[in-house]
This record gives sequence, C-alpha cells and structure tokens, in this order.
Amino acid sequence: MSKVLVIYQSFGGSTKSLAEAAAVGVSQSGAEADIKDVTKVTADDLSDVDGIILATTQPFQSMAGDTKKLFEQLWLGRDKIKKGTPFATIICYKTDPQATQESLKMFADYLELKPTDDWLTVSADDIEAGKEQARQLGIAIVQGD
Ligand SMILES: Cc1cc2nc3c(=O)[nH]c(=O)nc-3n(C[C@H](O)[C@H](O)[C@H](O)COP(=O)(O)O)c2cc1C
Repeated sequence: MSKVLVIYQSFGGSTKSLAEAAAVGVSQSGAEADIKDVTKVTADDLSDVDGIILATTQPFQSMAGDTKKLFEQLWLGRDKIKKGTPFATIICYKTDPQATQESLKMFADYLELKPTDDWLTVSADDIEAGKEQARQLGIAIVQGD
C-alpha cells in the first residue's frame, strides 16, 4: 500500500491528535500519509488512495456535522471513488460510540469501501493511550491487517 488519506474532524484538537498519530503509523510503515481536515476533502481525493482513515468526534451521539456532509458529497461523486478501498475509522467519544460506528459502517457500505477489522474508539478522557492505538491502526492499514 503506498498512499493513505487520513481525514479528521475535531473541535478541541483531541481527534486531530489521533489522526496525526495514525498518519505517523502510516509513514512508519513506509507509505505516504496525506492528512486533511474533513472540510478540505473531495471525492477526487479518494480516487487514487490505497487506504482511508477517518477520525471524527461524536457531538450529540453522532458523527460530526462536516463528516456527515462529506459522505453526502462523496455519494454524489461516488463514481470517482475506488471500490474496495480499505477504510478504517477512529471515533473520539465521551459516551457510547456504538451508534456512530454503525452509521459509519453504513456509509462505508454505500460507498463500497472495505471496512478493516480494527476500527478504533477512543475515550476523550484517555487520549494518550488512544494515540498509540491510532498509530498501530495506521501501521495495520498499510500492512493489510
Ligand atoms: C457540542 C458538543 C456536543 C457533544 N456531545 C457529545 C455526545 O453526545 N456524546 C459524546 O460521546 N461526546 C460528545 N461530545 C464530546 C466529544 O465527543 C468530545 O469533546 C470530543 O471527542 C473531543 O474531541 P475533539 O477535541 O477532537 O473535539 C460533545 C462535544 C461537543 C463540543
């Protein structure tokens, strides 16, 4: 795998730090990590990548607003997206992240992305441990685990 797009939406910086840690893991595995704020991402950005990591906060028990907006835009531009691209997510949460994770799985399904086995949920109260897990996630998506 040569290029991984790491997308994040963060209000206070915690989710961004998880995305950055994931990008470090990607780079440490010898792949190129392109890290982008969710508002800067277009369907074209997903046309030539070998993996995607999406990190979102969980306001009001759902993915953050610009992240959902991105999926709506991607659906309109879905012809540009490579089918079967490995896709991992990181949710930074305060309370149960399960519903958000299920929504993200649904979007992955709609866009015909390939969910990896190791989607990550990180408590906003335990960011330091989460950063190491995010780094491992970055390594795993490159290695195809
Ligand atoms: C307006 C707002 C509403 C939030 N509501 C929830 C919520 O319903 N459930 C939850 O798990 N976290 C909620 N959070 C907390 C975020 O999950 C937490 O602040 C975030 O994960 C920290 O990441 P960040 O520093 O990247 O923003 C909320 C945060 C904000 C700002």
